[in-house]
Amino acid sequence: MSKLRIGIIGLGTVGCGVYKTLADFPDIEIVKIAVKNINKPRSVNTPEGMITDNHYEIINDSSIDVLVELIGGVEPAWEYISAAIKNGKHIVTANKELLAKKGEELFNLAEEHNKVCLYEAAIAGGIPIIMPIKTILAGNNINKIQAILNGTTNYILTKMDVDGASYEDVLKEAQELGYAETDPTGDVEGYDAAYKITTLATLAFKKRVKLENVYREGITKIRKEDMAQANEFGYKIKLIANASIDEDGNADVRVHPMLVSNDTTLAHINYVTNAVAMSGHPIGSIVLSGPGAGEFPTASSVVGDILAIQAEFGTTDYMLPMMRCHHEHRANPVHIDDTYNKYYISITAPNAIGVIAKIGTICASKNISLASILQREVSENNTADIVVITEKCQERLIKEVVSELDNCVVNSLIRVAD
Ligand code: HSE
Repeated sequence: MSKLRIGIIGLGTVGCGVYKTLADFPDIEIVKIAVKNINKPRSVNTPEGMITDNHYEIINDSSIDVLVELIGGVEPAWEYISAAIKNGKHIVTANKELLAKKGEELFNLAEEHNKVCLYEAAIAGGIPIIMPIKTILAGNNINKIQAILNGTTNYILTKMDVDGASYEDVLKEAQELGYAETDPTGDVEGYDAAYKITTLATLAFKKRVKLENVYREGITKIRKEDMAQANEFGYKIKLIANASIDEDGNADVRVHPMLVSNDTTLAHINYVTNAVAMSGHPIGSIVLSGPGAGEFPTASSVVGDILAIQAEFGTTDYMLPMMRCHHEHRANPVHIDDTYNKYYISITAPNAIGVIAKIGTICASKNISLASILQREVSENNTADIVVITEKCQERLIKEVVSELDNCVVNSLIRVAD
């Protein structure tokens, strides 16, 4: 087997993990590594001349077989990847945002040039999920995914639960410890998880899902009181990436906080761990869990992709057919208002006769059945905290209920997982 020659773009945490891991694979030769800032301190010592700040030294080097892109973001990653494909290179990437926003263009371009683009590291870091779906699960009709795809938010929600702390306090602590970014928006507002579920649902359903049709809500409004109340009802609150598809190809894909029952595996996935629960036929239901980020877990996925290319490189004119992406079919998006969910509603109501009756009457008028209701003793300021969990009903109707509860304060409205 001849040596596979690779160029790496980006030598941050993941890039260093890949560099260190590849030291055990003498048949993979790292020819060049391109970075923005050559002088930045790093945890690896590279040979003299290996690092450049001119990315085109990789892209234009016809002796390099594979471009490994580890910088993230759409630009300049797309510029480098598209130029590299046109110059005859296969691609390995960990770039979830690029895949979600430009996946179709990327895979069409790769196919046009008979190149492969592998991306195991982009979704759920070290958990093997892409290759299993494309290969050993290929005989399945997967119709449902519920996943924890963002470690930062799972860390924050777990700490809020365990310590009884507020979102703001836990975020501050997580930032000080380096678990959350200085600007946490991408994680806490659910963008990161939305990128990942867009690609995961497209792959699992074999129908293209568009990012703009993925409903997204972050965790910033979750209160410590919601955590405590969820616990009383036998649930945890998690940021869940959901995707389901019906027989007509209508795909409901979304990211938002959810109450998940303590009876499920997802409720027990804590701190930075990720997990993907999937159902389909003939497999039934499975859950894969593990580290969703980090130097070596992510390197594990990147190196696995590089080795898959190496195994077939030079042996066939059409490499890795099962690992290629095709986009003949599109999913029909389902609007969030048309989805059906159970809901947790936390209400602060004035201490007046008939408040509970009014809540019940409004719900009944829309055919919404209540599964549980809890009211604590009236507080000193003469208000009552009431928590309601509904049976499954249409989102449009629950929003009407909330708008009609005009003499109450609705503190939280959170969907409850099936
Ligand atoms: N920012 C992501 C997370 C890791 O917190 O899980 C990279 O996808």
